[in-house]
Amino acid sequence: MRFTLNGRTVDVRAHPMKRLLDVLREDCHLTGTKEGCGEGECGACTVLVDGEAVNACLVPFAQVRGARVTTIEGLRGRRRLQEAFVEHGGAQCGICTPGMIVAAAALGRRPNLDDIKTGLAGNLCRCTGYSGIYRAIEAAAVPLRPARRRGARGKRR
Ligand code: FES
Ligand code: FES
Repeated sequence: MRFTLNGRTVDVRAHPMKRLLDVLREDCHLTGTKEGCGEGECGACTVLVDGEAVNACLVPFAQVRGARVTTIEGLRGRRRLQEAFVEHGGAQCGICTPGMIVAAAALGRRPNLDDIKTGLAGNLCRCTGYSGIYRAIEAAAVPLRPARRRGARGKRR
């Protein structure tokens, strides 16, 4: 099945009902996307589908036919945010961090604190207490962009 992955057209053979999370990790060998709950509750598996944050553990592969999927590996500008996470104590064990960064990428340009709290409401962190994450995203202050982005479809929440 053809779709765009991190800006490149790919053709991946996988069962249409296989979870997008598993297709990315097992078939595409992109292991930056993490599995936490596997039930749509934690946001660790967040990726962008046509620019919209979704939980990849809930998305059947068939739903991304022809779509643009962006994972943590495909985000431009993430280095700056990664550095901000380190500087502001936004990561400890790190399991939630890729999902947090991808969710932050969907927030648009220069989100304020309310935008950040609302946009990351579906991303759980058991370590940091969140304030370091919020500070890191505010401090990064440079919009993260998927490799290619045109419009949006679907909602995560
Ligand atoms: S692993 Fe997908 S939401 Fe938790
Ligand atoms: S840093 Fe451990 S869950 Fe967020």
